[in-house]
Amino acid sequence: MGKIASVRDLDVAGRRVLLRMDLNVPLKGGGITDDTRIRAALPTIRHLLEAGASVVGCSHMGRPKGRVVSELSLAPVAERLRRLLPGVDVRLAGDSAGPDAAARAGALRPGMLLLLENVRFEPGETRGDEELADRMRPLADVYVNDAFGAAHRSHASVDALARKFPERAMGLLMEREWLYLKAKLEAPERPYTAILGGAKVSDKIPILDNLVEKVDHLCIGGAMAYTFLTVRGISVGASLVEPDQRGAAEAILGRAAERGVTVDLPADHVVAPSPDRPSEARCVSGGIPEDLAGLDIGPSTAERFGHRIRGSRTVLWNGPMGVFETPAFAEGTLAVARAVADSRALSIVGGGDSVAALQESGLADRITHLSTGGGACLELLAGLDLPGFAALEM
Ligand code: 3PG
Repeated sequence: MGKIASVRDLDVAGRRVLLRMDLNVPLKGGGITDDTRIRAALPTIRHLLEAGASVVGCSHMGRPKGRVVSELSLAPVAERLRRLLPGVDVRLAGDSAGPDAAARAGALRPGMLLLLENVRFEPGETRGDEELADRMRPLADVYVNDAFGAAHRSHASVDALARKFPERAMGLLMEREWLYLKAKLEAPERPYTAILGGAKVSDKIPILDNLVEKVDHLCIGGAMAYTFLTVRGISVGASLVEPDQRGAAEAILGRAAERGVTVDLPADHVVAPSPDRPSEARCVSGGIPEDLAGLDIGPSTAERFGHRIRGSRTVLWNGPMGVFETPAFAEGTLAVARAVADSRALSIVGGGDSVAALQESGLADRITHLSTGGGACLELLAGLDLPGFAALEM
């Protein structure tokens, strides 16, 4: 990776800065249900405005497929920014690369924030179109990318547009995500434990392949654990198993054994005939009877994972331990959330469900770093190069 400048290295006084953010927040009935990503963008916005810049903010929202979809307008986001940035003149353009954006950007004065309309209303955005990037280039003098959640997309405003600016840098959020998800995990303080969960082994193979080379302990929960248990010859009843992933699971267990990495798999389980029969939930140890499916890790497994977490100096957690949205199958995930929050280790958590579990249980502020990226976080943990960072290299 070549050198990437930080927004802190730029002289932006009196200049217009195009700031790509990920303000793709969940909406319901026109309202924002979680503004974490908007709040995460504030430090860079404030930094730029205080340094005397005017900011042209750009983001996507949802997947409108290149058409104007009024429900996916950034209007509620502009409204929220006004509330979170009292005293700042926040405007919303009617387009992101058309005449309204150009006119409003031209009229900006230092200290003002113009939010462009959803950039995915432009068909060229997801295609990574050079032509769209050319139309957006005159909107600003300098480019800053702080859209960590979109860093794995080679879209026009993330990739082609960045490369058109001789002066480009990453924002404070991009820097922070890189520091924790990359730098700290490349040279971790040991012992280093990763707790991985989620439904599918196939989604997590690239991460497991990467992590097995770095961690000291691997704790595997969630439905993906059942494929691993079958490799160890343990019966898993009607649990979710991906037969075509058995080879990959076997290879990971083999590599872990070669490196001396301990792999903890669930030894007890919360089971039921199916996820929609929570009233029949009960706990079993060892193998799972034929007509029952494992839907959460059991209490002894949660205790063992907790023991690993307490003994570690670096902890990474990604993915729920069970069908977390159903209370009868949520306890394993909540127990891991508590153990990670209570630990004195450097703690890094990524992935929507794990982050949600921490937020819902009021533990989020006891974690060293909660990633704002979904797919981007997973790709970075898998050791892949992300277009959003690569385009900023000089
Ligand atoms: C996300 O929510 O993960 C990012 O905003 C990227 O969105 P996308 O998956 O629609 O590209």
